[in-house]
Amino acid sequence: MPAGLDPLPDAPLVRLRGITMWYGQGAGAVQALAGVDLDIRRGEMVALVGPSGSGKSTLMHVLGLLDRPSAGTYQLAGRDVSRLRSGAAARLRGSQVTFVFQAIHLLPALDALRNIELPMVYARMTRDERGPRARQMLERVGLTHLAHRYPAQMSGGQAQRVAIARAVAPGPHLLLADEPTGALDQRSGRTVLALFQDLHRQLGLTIVLVTHEPTVAQHAERIIRLEDGRITEDARVAERLWAEGENAAARTTAEGQGGPA
Ligand SMILES: Nc1ncnc2c1ncn2[C@@H]1O[C@H](COP(=O)(O)OP(=O)(O)O)[C@@H](O)[C@H]1O
Ligand SMILES: [Mg+2]
Repeated sequence: MPAGLDPLPDAPLVRLRGITMWYGQGAGAVQALAGVDLDIRRGEMVALVGPSGSGKSTLMHVLGLLDRPSAGTYQLAGRDVSRLRSGAAARLRGSQVTFVFQAIHLLPALDALRNIELPMVYARMTRDERGPRARQMLERVGLTHLAHRYPAQMSGGQAQRVAIARAVAPGPHLLLADEPTGALDQRSGRTVLALFQDLHRQLGLTIVLVTHEPTVAQHAERIIRLEDGRITEDARVAERLWAEGENAAARTTAEGQGGPA
């Protein structure tokens, strides 16, 4: 874990209080977030769901230090980051907090390895650290053979896996993914989601994933629902499955009882 950002190791990784966001001014102003309180512990995998326009991307932008909230506080690893100036925010972004978007933002002029190295350049890692780390990440996403391919020579699913390797390479505290499978076919989408689960399990990475797909959300440990800029549901998946799956559970029990003695 990067040093220097962890004054309160027991604090949740993310603590939001009263986060409010307005776009525009006067009569035409739109309130995208209306007082969001949220704690996310280290190592959690959270699915963020809700109808279109409910504020999911806005919340991700606040979490990712791309936008400052109109009001409220954001503590990241115990440090108040709600009022950081853009230079300081940019330094944390790309090293402590990284993004995977629906639209895949690889640089077309760089091959896979160089794309993965880029955020490590910004994080001021040395060349000797970057090279091996980039190869290791490429291997982790199962694409060692694409090391010297350019984005135009990759499928959408491959490019998204390279984008994930790039996001994880600097060793971030928090990985944010806004509909990362939205532009992929079902099969590539499943591969990408399995990859997020692996990264979560193997690296203990804290992940917030925006998704429309209920089956995807069920793979997270916790599901948060936003509606009209407010959190209307925050449930551990085990509890949810319990509540929704009582019939299934009853069936399983009945089968168990009816099985071989
Ligand atoms: N840059 C912007 N300027 C003005 N309104 C915006 C902007 N971004 C989002 N909004 C508005 O804020 C609300 C929440 O949007 P968004 O966070 O993108 O929702 P979601 O990702 O859940 O679809 C919507 O009403 C949307 O139209
Ligand atoms: Mg959105």
